[in-house]
Amino acid sequence: MASDQEDEMDLDREDAESAPDHGSGSDMEIAPSIAPRRDKGKSREDTVLLPGRAGAGTEENLPWVEKYRPQELDEVISHQNIISTISKFISENRLPHLLFYGPPGTGKTTTILAIARQLYGAKWKSMVLELNASDDRGIDVVREQIKSFASTRAVFSTGFKMIILDEADAMTQAAQAALRRVIESYTRNVRFCIICNYVSKIIPALQSRCTRFRFSPLKLDQIEKRLDFIRDKENINLTPDGKEALLKLSQGDMRRALNILQACHAGYPAIDQTAVYTCTGDPLPADIERILEWMLSEEFSTALEKIRSLKTDKGIALNDILTGVHAFLAQLELPPNCRVYLLDRISDVEYKLNSGCTERIQLPAMVGAFRIATEMAGRAGAR
Ligand SMILES: Nc1ncnc2c1ncn2[C@@H]1O[C@H](COP(=O)(O)OP(=O)(O)OP(=O)(O)O)[C@@H](O)[C@H]1O
Ligand SMILES: [Mg+2]
Repeated sequence: MASDQEDEMDLDREDAESAPDHGSGSDMEIAPSIAPRRDKGKSREDTVLLPGRAGAGTEENLPWVEKYRPQELDEVISHQNIISTISKFISENRLPHLLFYGPPGTGKTTTILAIARQLYGAKWKSMVLELNASDDRGIDVVREQIKSFASTRAVFSTGFKMIILDEADAMTQAAQAALRRVIESYTRNVRFCIICNYVSKIIPALQSRCTRFRFSPLKLDQIEKRLDFIRDKENINLTPDGKEALLKLSQGDMRRALNILQACHAGYPAIDQTAVYTCTGDPLPADIERILEWMLSEEFSTALEKIRSLKTDKGIALNDILTGVHAFLAQLELPPNCRVYLLDRISDVEYKLNSGCTERIQLPAMVGAFRIATEMAGRAGAR
């Protein structure tokens, strides 16, 4: 469903590598200070990557999204403009407060963790407070934890500390409002990095205190290169059509691509198109083509019957059929009024499905819409 939320995440790929957009000028001068004091906020790597802890994962049994999470800025495969701008900030020692936003799996958390490693080296964990959605980040945390981390001074370190507020769109408005003054007061000691999917959920006052970077969905050729690299490392038998299917289903989300790849690798000796679609439960393009053909050329009841039995055989959901059919519609040669009619009807069916209507009634509605559209096309041709 093309939801409002997706719009807010700027899923379009154009002008992806956004130029920095400076908020209100903050004091860039960096004072010596800073106290290493880890409060209870844990970085994801604390919980996932540390070796040697009881039950902790080794490299081998880590999910690939973690195993292949880039550790250095240079390894991040996309958003070169953003990376080079930030590298410049770092080399000039003028890092501003940062706001990263964009859809999931595009490298926001990866980038900030790589920045932290580059800034602080091995001791980065003592200089960084990372709070994500798994931590409580209400107003009390802002008042106590964030303030005390920001205000304490380091004995042996110089430079600023960093506070990463990951998944900040889940923070309450009150907590965000409380952050405004904290960000300003402690600029000498600390740089904040606010990360979110929906930038509209961050209050304007916070946005204006940060330099904003938009992480757009990854380009398919960038994902492809990374997949090739992992395929070689893991010795995967990935066929060209399997890779194409993976890229198509990833929709610019590197995390999704890696998760599907790992799931397929566990289940199939060779990863081809069928393996990928079966693994994710998405209908095969060939099935969608058959469904379209039935809807466009068969009688209403025959088409309905055939689609119903295919749905039962393969366990396909109507929502997935709608998505597939919508993608194919662009390739069909149809008079403009038929296309508009169909798009309108399909969006209606999708809306009703997601509002709780049953597939039993919405499936005939979709088939009926196609029958009416073909009749409209026939009448237009006869004229
Ligand atoms: N630009 C990238 N280069 C290389 N790998 C990437 C990139 N982006 C994402 N990945 C892979 O996807 C995984 C998830 O990325 P990351 O956690 O940075 O996403 P995110 O943008 O923070 O997503 P979310 O909004 O869901 O938190 C990483 O572990 C990494 O393996
Ligand atoms: Mg993240």
